[in-house]
Amino acid sequence: MFRTKKNNPQIDKEQLELIKNAQKRIKQKKRLYIHFVIFLIGSVFFILLNLVLGFGKDFKPFHTNWFVYAILSWLFLLLYHTFNVFITHYFMGKEWEQKQLEKLVAKQKQRIEELKKAIPVTNQPYTPSETDAKKKTNITSCLTIIVAAAENNAIGKNNQLIWHLSDDLKRFKTLTNGHHIIMGRKTFESFPKPLPNRTHIVITRQLDYQVPDGVIVVNTLQDAIEISKQDSQPFIIGGGEIYNQAMEIASIIEITRVHESFEADTFFPKIDTSIWREISNTFHEKDDKNEFAFSFITYKRK
Ligand SMILES: NC(=O)c1ccc[n+]([C@@H]2O[C@H](COP(=O)([O-])OP(=O)(O)OC[C@H]3O[C@@H](n4cnc5c(N)ncnc54)[C@H](OP(=O)(O)O)[C@@H]3O)[C@@H](O)[C@H]2O)c1
Repeated sequence: MFRTKKNNPQIDKEQLELIKNAQKRIKQKKRLYIHFVIFLIGSVFFILLNLVLGFGKDFKPFHTNWFVYAILSWLFLLLYHTFNVFITHYFMGKEWEQKQLEKLVAKQKQRIEELKKAIPVTNQPYTPSETDAKKKTNITSCLTIIVAAAENNAIGKNNQLIWHLSDDLKRFKTLTNGHHIIMGRKTFESFPKPLPNRTHIVITRQLDYQVPDGVIVVNTLQDAIEISKQDSQPFIIGGGEIYNQAMEIASIIEITRVHESFEADTFFPKIDTSIWREISNTFHEKDDKNEFAFSFITYKRK
């Protein structure tokens, strides 16, 4: 469900980005140059066709030879191409993209700050006050388990995922975007970094567990759920230990059933169909981006 960590050689990401960008610009300029050369040759060809070979010599809209219109139309396309390569790039190039990104990050930080204010402690484990515990919100949370599990219920090995399914990652991103994601300490540690645009709640028994800014630490699953109450659909995202405990209280299971069996050290609990009703099931063949066939299945508590 999440990206597996790969041991790539350590390349300076910024340099790689610069190289990629430079290569892209070279390609764009080359294409424009080729377009210009073809335009010159094409224009000469049109003139010869009309004036020397006499092709369409009687076709003169507004007393002007047709090749003039053909060349002018082409010139317009060439100018549009030039505009895209230079002007659009100037105003909407990397810097512009960077600024947009910074704006997004700033917005997200602001959201995190707002959340922090709403919660008494963030980097420290959350202890609900009596009023917190008694506080009833109008929103009924629809606690949802989201998981990718093999036919033998395998979900992970050595604190990593076992497979790479691009469509599953996309679905995970789409479903959890903007929501609270509740996870065990080990699952949190399997991420390279916190996922954007989600409120992370990490469950641990450790009292001094350190996390990056914005990530919330709690000591029990109940506290995690209490904190997520304002969210109409908080997600339990794993791993095995947390799934086991959350099965008792969740309302929905969004499972990606991978149609293979794997050797693993972490497993998803068996779904008891006397408790859970399947409400949708979509099968996907394996393809270039998904190394195994799988089905997206939604279960609802009966
Ligand atoms: N396929 C999938 O969809 C999927 C999704 C998520 C994860 N995974 C995989 O699952 C594996 C990790 O799962 P896991 O079962 O080993 O670990 P986990 O559930 O992610 O985390 C376990 C930890 O959570 C804390 N914890 C658990 N129950 C608690 C409770 N009641 N109160 C307080 N703290 C509690 C403990 O942290 P402390 O030890 O710090 O006290 C415990 O060690 C990885 O392989 C990962 O890749 C797969």
